[in-house]
Amino acid sequence: MELKVGSDICVVGAGYVGLVTATCMAQLGHRVALVESDAQRLDALRAGRSPIYEPGLAELLSDALRRRRLCVTGDIAEAVAGASVVIVAVGTPPLPDGRADLSQVRAAVAAIEPVAAPGTVIALKSTVPPGSTAAMQQSARRRGTGCAVVAYPEFLREGSALEDFANPPRIVVGGDDPIACARVMALHGTLPGRRMVTDSTSAELVKYGANAFLALKISFINEIATLCELTGADVEAVADGLGADPRIGRAFLNAGIGFGGSCFPKDVRALDEMSSYHGHSFWLLKAATEVNVQQRRRFVAKVQEAMGGRVAGRRIAVLGLAFKPGTDDMRQAASVDVVAHLQDLGARISATDPAALDSARPLLPGVTLTDDPYRCVGGADAVVLLTEWPELVGLDWARVASLVHRRVVVDGRNALRRAGLPELGFTYVSVGRAKQRPVARAAAALEVACVAS
Ligand code: UGA
Repeated sequence: MELKVGSDICVVGAGYVGLVTATCMAQLGHRVALVESDAQRLDALRAGRSPIYEPGLAELLSDALRRRRLCVTGDIAEAVAGASVVIVAVGTPPLPDGRADLSQVRAAVAAIEPVAAPGTVIALKSTVPPGSTAAMQQSARRRGTGCAVVAYPEFLREGSALEDFANPPRIVVGGDDPIACARVMALHGTLPGRRMVTDSTSAELVKYGANAFLALKISFINEIATLCELTGADVEAVADGLGADPRIGRAFLNAGIGFGGSCFPKDVRALDEMSSYHGHSFWLLKAATEVNVQQRRRFVAKVQEAMGGRVAGRRIAVLGLAFKPGTDDMRQAASVDVVAHLQDLGARISATDPAALDSARPLLPGVTLTDDPYRCVGGADAVVLLTEWPELVGLDWARVASLVHRRVVVDGRNALRRAGLPELGFTYVSVGRAKQRPVARAAAALEVACVAS
């Protein structure tokens, strides 16, 4: 390891959060030691390769490594020595009952404490249930480790993490040691964003509350979308109208196939479990999860209906697999459920994604994967958009029209509404609006109606 002594920050865990945090902190001017225990990931990092796809990260990472602002190591003792702040960014995956598994966080803190200099601040960036940081702080005091433990929740979005790091709406640090909190806050230098120092349990709940509230917004608009389909309204217009009220806001009111990813489904469930543990049934969270499950089922039914009820033996081309654009992350991606349901109905699936093919392959047995969207749609009886990557939304749809077997597009993200598909002869179906027929058929229907009246 080339850069150890004097590294002012150590980051434990080179997963998504740890790697982005370490790289961005190095870019801010800190000297950062990043610890990773997975040998394969470590090798990739040492070779200057980012093990995850995040726009702009690979360049920033190799720059930080080259300038020796960042070093990577498997040796936690070596990395912690000399660091005044140790940021813990290891995973907290769900246990079978939905609670967060804190074993990696506990193991990291247990490995840090014996080698940390007195006064070192351990900042928990991993998402931990309310009360966890306070318990760890108390235990550190009891054992006289001389370390302070603070909650340091993260709010980065995959696909725009670098931008989010540089422009945070707020930075939250929670703990009962004001000097420790101030030291973590000071790492952000002159970055914009409101600084908020709270007790650690409140900081932990800010994180869960933010993710749960955003998930609620998505499920709410998806319920409105169903009502729009039943009443003839258009969910886009309704979302714009709702979102124009600053008390509501337009963000996260995009209807579609619901939320996925490594955070919302896990955190909503964990908060629900946590509430039950404290004797409170958090009904809104249960509803948000159930709506999200139903939304995927409704979407499969929509595809089936758009294909005239016959899916068995037909070819469906799936555009986009990642849980959102700008990432290769397939964790809890709606595509996995939707594709499996369509396969159960007998469909033959081809699929494409600009970044997630490798991570998708083991999750999608029986699916023909290709990196060429035009090959993907060749001979398809229906084209289904599941992730709104700009490169997929911006396909040459006239060319797609010439390649497919039947001109049917079902849009799970409402991203193709302005692509002029009916004018190209497509039956176009989106979420939260009545089915749009090809222009010629719609015009003919209008003519019949006029003659009849
Ligand atoms: C989310 C939060 O937005 C971050 O603030 C947080 O730091 C992160 O979780 C985390 O806890 O680590 P992320 O999961 O990367 O970030 O993605 P989002 O942009 O929040 O999207 C989550 C899901 O909701 C995606 O599947 C997306 O397609 C879906 N979504 C989002 C909608 O269906 N409609 C919307 O209007 C917005």
